[in-house]
Amino acid sequence: MAIPTTRTNEQARISIDSEKCIGCGKCIDVCKDLSLVLKDGKVSLASEPVFGCIGCGHCMAICPSGAIEVNGRYLSPKDLFELPPKEQAAGYEELQTLYQRRRSIREFRDEPVSSEKIKKILEAAKMAPMGLPPSDVNVLVLGTKEKNHLFAKDFCDYLEQMQWMVSGWFLAFMRPFWGKANAAVFRNFVKPLFRVYTEKMRQGTNLVTYDAPLAMYFYGSPYADPADPVVAATTAMYAAESLGLGTCMVGGVHPLIQHGGKAKKFREKYGIKFKSREGLFILIGHPQWTYKKGVKRTFASVVNWN
Ligand SMILES: Cc1cc2nc3c(=O)[nH]c(=O)nc-3n(C[C@H](O)[C@H](O)[C@H](O)COP(=O)(O)O)c2cc1C
Ligand code: SF4
Ligand code: SF4
Repeated sequence: MAIPTTRTNEQARISIDSEKCIGCGKCIDVCKDLSLVLKDGKVSLASEPVFGCIGCGHCMAICPSGAIEVNGRYLSPKDLFELPPKEQAAGYEELQTLYQRRRSIREFRDEPVSSEKIKKILEAAKMAPMGLPPSDVNVLVLGTKEKNHLFAKDFCDYLEQMQWMVSGWFLAFMRPFWGKANAAVFRNFVKPLFRVYTEKMRQGTNLVTYDAPLAMYFYGSPYADPADPVVAATTAMYAAESLGLGTCMVGGVHPLIQHGGKAKKFREKYGIKFKSREGLFILIGHPQWTYKKGVKRTFASVVNWN
C-alpha cells in the first residue's frame, strides 16, 4: 500500500543498519506513519504501518548515528544537508519587518529579474511544507515582460470566448446549485472582472499580469493537497521580497482555466500539466514606486476557544 501522487505510487524503502543503531527511539517518535518499532534495543520495521513509508525523511534527519536510510518517492540519503546555524535564521523581528514592508506591487520598472534571483526564489519555495511528499506542486515560470503580456493577452482572448460564464441566464441557472455567496461573488466580482480584463486588454492595458517582468504560477494536481500550491507560492513570494523585489498574488486566472475544452487548450499551450483545485500566480519585479506607509490588517475573527 502506498499513497499515490502524479510522481509515484510506491512507498519508500527503509534500510536500517543495526550495527549503527543505538536504540534511542527518536526515529520511532517522529515517524507518524508508525513504520518503525523498537525491538531488542534496536529499531526495526513495523508490521502494520499506516500508509507505508511516505518518504518524509524525518527519521534520517533526526538519527544521531546515521543508522537509518530511506530511498524512494524522490528521496534518498543524498537529500540530507547540514542545517545552517540557528543564529543565522531570521528572528521574529526580521520576519515581521519583511511582512510589514510587503505591499502588493502592480507597477513594475522595465527591468528583468535575474536568472540568479529566479533560481533563489524557486530554491526557497521548494522548502515549503506539502500535504504529503513528494510535492505535487508544479510551477510555470514566465520570465519576461513579453511572455507575461502574451499570456495575459491569450487569457483575455480566451475570456472573450467564455463570456457565457458571466451571462445573466447562466448565473440565474447556477444560482440554486451555487448558493448565495457564490452567486454574489460571480455577479459582483467575476462578471466585472471579465469586463475590465478584456476591455482593457483590447486597449492594450494588461490588468491580469500587469506586464510584470516575472510571473510564477503554482498549481497542483488531482492528487495534491489543494493548499500545497498556495503554501509554495506564499513561500516564493516572501523569498522574492527578501531579495528586494516587489510581488503581487493573482488569484483571478487559476479558477477560470480549469473547466472545459477551451481551458484545456489554453493550459496545453502554456505547458500547464494538470487541472487542480487551487493554484496561484505571483507577479514579481522591481517596484516602480516606493511606499511610505504600511497598512494594518485584521482577521475576520480570532477565537480563543475555552
Ligand atoms: C489569494 C490572493 C489573490 C489575489 N488576487 C489578486 C488579483 O487577481 N489581482 C490583483 O491585482 N491583486 C490580487 N491580490 C492582491 C490583493 O488585492 C492584496 O493582497 C490586497 O488588496 C491587500 O493589499 P496588500 O497585499 O498590499 O496588503 C490577491 C491576493 C491574494 C492573497
Ligand atoms: S521517511 Fe518518514 S514515513 Fe518513512 S520511515 Fe522515515 S519518518 Fe517514517
Ligand atoms: S534514531 Fe537512529 S539510532 Fe535512534 S533508534 Fe532510530 S535508527 Fe536507531
